[in-house]
Amino acid sequence: TATPGPLRIEDYQDLAQRRLDDQVWDFVEGGAGTERTVDANRCAFARVTLRPRVLVDVSACDTGTELLGAPLATPVGVAPTAYHRLLHPDGEVATALGAGAAGALYVVSVFASRTLEEIAAEAAGPLWLQLYWLRRREVLAGLVERATAAGYRALVLTVDAPQLGRRHRDARNGFAVPAGISAVNLDPALMASAHRSDAGRSALAVHTAEAVDPSVTWADLAWLRARSELPVVLKGILTAEDAVLAVQHGADAIVVSNHGGRQLDGAPASLDALAEVVDAVGAAGCPVLFDGGVRSGADAFAALALGARAVLLGRPVLWGLAADGAAGVAGVLGLATEELAHTMALAGRPALPAVDRSAVVLAPGPAQ
Ligand code: FNR
Repeated sequence: TATPGPLRIEDYQDLAQRRLDDQVWDFVEGGAGTERTVDANRCAFARVTLRPRVLVDVSACDTGTELLGAPLATPVGVAPTAYHRLLHPDGEVATALGAGAAGALYVVSVFASRTLEEIAAEAAGPLWLQLYWLRRREVLAGLVERATAAGYRALVLTVDAPQLGRRHRDARNGFAVPAGISAVNLDPALMASAHRSDAGRSALAVHTAEAVDPSVTWADLAWLRARSELPVVLKGILTAEDAVLAVQHGADAIVVSNHGGRQLDGAPASLDALAEVVDAVGAAGCPVLFDGGVRSGADAFAALALGARAVLLGRPVLWGLAADGAAGVAGVLGLATEELAHTMALAGRPALPAVDRSAVVLAPGPAQ
């Protein structure tokens, strides 16, 4: 008899680990410092209890939603992650095909290893472009222009990485981006240090220090806004204070995220920060997206119930990509969406507006 295909998202993790070399595996799985925030992201979901309602007609459960004006078949999307050719030779083009097949949003990283235009040519669903604030503003301006021309529908500025987190696995491995794979949307001269392997140091940390402007503040957002008509989304917000500032400075949406535990070790679990942010800006009509530790449709359901409009998957998409290219990405997103629809049915919430706070209890976490 044939081996059954993946039944849960973690099955893709096992498949990916078997295929990847140890350094790439560590780069994907690892986090900052003691990795306690990586762990906290997962543990938070174990504190969720669902509150099912019964005798509701769940003969059709609708996972469809709308985000910044675009309809989406599923609220589960792809978080921006760098260098997909580390996982599969087709890189981000395979990711775009997989996301499109699932009807999912795909947020492309500025460190994509395929060009923005190649990715857009294969995409069947909406694309957003994630940016870091580069020291060289003319490079940033050029990317914004290209993204607009290629049909990307929003800019996602990641605001939790003025420096790279201290990722000990990568430092120990002297991890560098291998020759032959590169951030092709940026000038090779700007990327050189990301390829220089040095024992005891992460080349990505060296490169970030060189390329990313750590002096940027709220006041600088006006510069980005003035350069583009596209909606601006801020990724990496964890407090009510910053959520309010984001809206005051014209953010069109927010992503509650701790960067998968890869930046500030000791930051709260994303799930623990979610309700605080939603309460701060929900009334202002600012959509809140969520990422960090989502590994099933039930996890997605919990984040949606706590007020997220969409959830993004980081590592799981990379597992799918490594396991089986575009089909693996579509498989991971499809599984999460199927499980979400199933959870909606058994919880008696057949459409996303009914997936509200009354559907969950999140028990307080232990101090980390
Ligand atoms: C990331 N993440 C990330 N974020 C970002 O804004 N730009 C980027 O280029 C990257 N690159 C990246 C690479 C890898 C290998 C990982 C695992 C993560 C963070 C990502 O967008 C997201 O916030 C987290 O991955 C979400 O957590 P989970 O789903 O991985 O638990």
